[in-house]
Amino acid sequence: MNIHRNANAKATPGPTTDADGAVNVNVGTIGILGAGQIGSQVARLAVAAGHDVVISNSRGPETLAGLVAELGPRARAATAEEAARAGDVVVVAIPLKNYAQVPVEPLAGKVVIDTGNYYPQRDGRIPELDDESTTTSERLQGRLPRSKVVKGFNHIYAHELTEHGRPAGTPDRRALVIAGDDAGAKAVVTKLLDAFGFDTVDAGLLREGWRIQRDTPGYGPRRNAEELRRDLAAAKRYVEM
Ligand SMILES: NC(=O)c1ccc[n+]([C@@H]2O[C@H](COP(=O)([O-])OP(=O)(O)OC[C@H]3O[C@@H](n4cnc5c(N)ncnc54)[C@H](OP(=O)(O)O)[C@@H]3O)[C@@H](O)[C@H]2O)c1
Repeated sequence: MNIHRNANAKATPGPTTDADGAVNVNVGTIGILGAGQIGSQVARLAVAAGHDVVISNSRGPETLAGLVAELGPRARAATAEEAARAGDVVVVAIPLKNYAQVPVEPLAGKVVIDTGNYYPQRDGRIPELDDESTTTSERLQGRLPRSKVVKGFNHIYAHELTEHGRPAGTPDRRALVIAGDDAGAKAVVTKLLDAFGFDTVDAGLLREGWRIQRDTPGYGPRRNAEELRRDLAAAKRYVEM
């Protein structure tokens, strides 16, 4: 494992809002829904970057004792509802088929990072994704109308999250795509990703998220920012493939 930050780092707690409404990027606690491949890796990055972590799964906090012991004193396990409530920023890292279980009210007003991808064999057929009339993260935004959903972490293999991060300014640093409708929320996520070891490429609004969906050129391979921008521009809809 190659997390470039050390566990003595200390994030400034609590988000604040400027007089002009811009969100400051002081994220203390990161709530995580899902403790599988992606959720556990985001938790490792968050702890290494100095954040507190509240992580959850579907079976209950007691089943996460081993992960929490590994993560150390900055992490605790909780129910999904508690993790959603505790997080200044909350990461949704559960299969798409379970999105109807994402708590709504505790996430109101918060930046919510959506890691989800659509795999019909896992998630079942979702007609509006099959016909590409919407995107995965727009669906989550629809469920969470008072949250600020940002698409993130969806196109990197989970294990690479702790292997490919590098300090800002490293030549050829890996970049990750974000998309979202709220510029302040995207600034928060960009700052987080930077602390986690990655450059960011903004694909635009949530509806542009299809450009980094499964089977697009940028989905999976290690890319720097310039390469990833090229991939986004070259992406094709499923109907065009
Ligand atoms: N794996 C990757 O490399 C990767 C990369 C990028 C994006 N993604 C995407 O990220 C999402 C998560 O993938 P994953 O690979 O991390 O899945 P995973 O390893 O199967 O883990 C899913 C996690 O979600 C939890 N969960 C399910 N329903 C929940 C609920 N209602 N509340 C809280 N937790 C719940 C599960 O808990 P239990 O075990 O207790 O059921 C489990 O911890 C998917 O959409 C996937 O396509 C995955």
